[in-house]
Amino acid sequence: MQNLMVTGGAGFIGSNFVRYMLQKYAGYRIVVYDKLTYAGNLDNLKDVQRDFGARYAFVHGDVCDAAAVRAAIHQHQVDSVVNFAAATHVDRSLMEPDEFIRTDVFGTHVLLEAAKAFGLERYHQVSTDEVYGEVLEGRSRETDSLHTRSPYSASKAGGDMLCIAYYTSFDVPVTITRGSNNIGPYQYPEKVVPLFVTNAIDDQPLPLYGDGSQMRDYQYVVDHCEGIDVVLHQGEIGEIYNLGIGAETRNIDMTHAILDILGKPRSLIQPVKDRPGHDRRYALDVSKIRALGWEPNHSFEEAIEDTVRWYVENEWWWRPIKSGVHYQQYYQQQYQGREV
Ligand code: NAD
Ligand code: DAU
Repeated sequence: MQNLMVTGGAGFIGSNFVRYMLQKYAGYRIVVYDKLTYAGNLDNLKDVQRDFGARYAFVHGDVCDAAAVRAAIHQHQVDSVVNFAAATHVDRSLMEPDEFIRTDVFGTHVLLEAAKAFGLERYHQVSTDEVYGEVLEGRSRETDSLHTRSPYSASKAGGDMLCIAYYTSFDVPVTITRGSNNIGPYQYPEKVVPLFVTNAIDDQPLPLYGDGSQMRDYQYVVDHCEGIDVVLHQGEIGEIYNLGIGAETRNIDMTHAILDILGKPRSLIQPVKDRPGHDRRYALDVSKIRALGWEPNHSFEEAIEDTVRWYVENEWWWRPIKSGVHYQQYYQQQYQGREV
């Protein structure tokens, strides 16, 4: 495994993964294949282009375009694919599910067909803890059945099931990781942490859904990338690995942590109408990936501290996004008149 194609590599986690892998492995070449949707941003890879230009290439393309996918694999002599490409925001999946089903299900199928046709060494699917559905008690294990509740999680589950099908039916060498909520540099400010941090910097309200008691396992993005690397090199083909800290934080506590780090008042919290079908809690059993030797380098407290600092120091990255027409329209549609 030396020539990786990272689909969705211009997004949040994908770009962190590309940087991590090129820094760690001097012998690797990476081609990022990305459609550059609103969430894809070449600014995320600016330093990668500068520091690793000789081992990095970018191809603008859609994972649903089978001919373009195959051309990129052929041209860059790709031996393995790591698939991050997806429509990823739960709230948008409630507004416009089509794109989720198209990219997250059909796009995965296109990539699996290409992996089969080229006899790739590995196809890795980056999945999510959301496929288990909300878990009010206990922890989800990789063998648990899936109880998806949003168009996003249902689409991701469809992608996972196709991966297992291609492994079982065609021996495509598949691995899957199911990660919990990532936070860190380059996350599009529609997701709660970058949204709240950047709003708080500007003394704008933080729209907290419902009573704020929902829980997420917020993990630092580079730890997640390291976990994917561990599975790529030590994971067993055909296996699924949960990937997270394994400890949950209530949204209200995450919000207080952000405000405290920034020295901003709690009066900035604006309770708003809850997300329809809002999953109350995700909780992963992470013993399987820990048995491979992986463990997170950041606690929640360290992850949120580093994340807040990055947004404070990198206004050049998020201000143009937040002042753009697309973002402004989305924000209005999503939050206007939602106060309770
Ligand atoms: P993101 O929204 O920041 O980035 C998605 C990337 O995929 C963008 O660069 C976008 O341009 C690209 N893309 C979208 N549709 C495409 C298409 N049809 N063809 C090619 N490229 C396309 O997402 P993220 O938060 O970095 O998530 C990456 C992956 O990790 C997703 O598969 C997501 O389901 C999974 N995941 C995310 C989290 C999280 O907390 N963010 C947690 C667990 C798993
Ligand atoms: O669990 C992994 C998943 O985490 C990934 O698969 C998804 O791609 C990613 O978007 C994320 O999904 P969530 O729905 O958990 O993330 P989000 O940042 O949208 O919301 C986190 C929590 O914060 C959730 O309980 C809803 C709440 N929230 C969110 C927003 C956007 C608010 O209270 N206010 C908000 O404005």
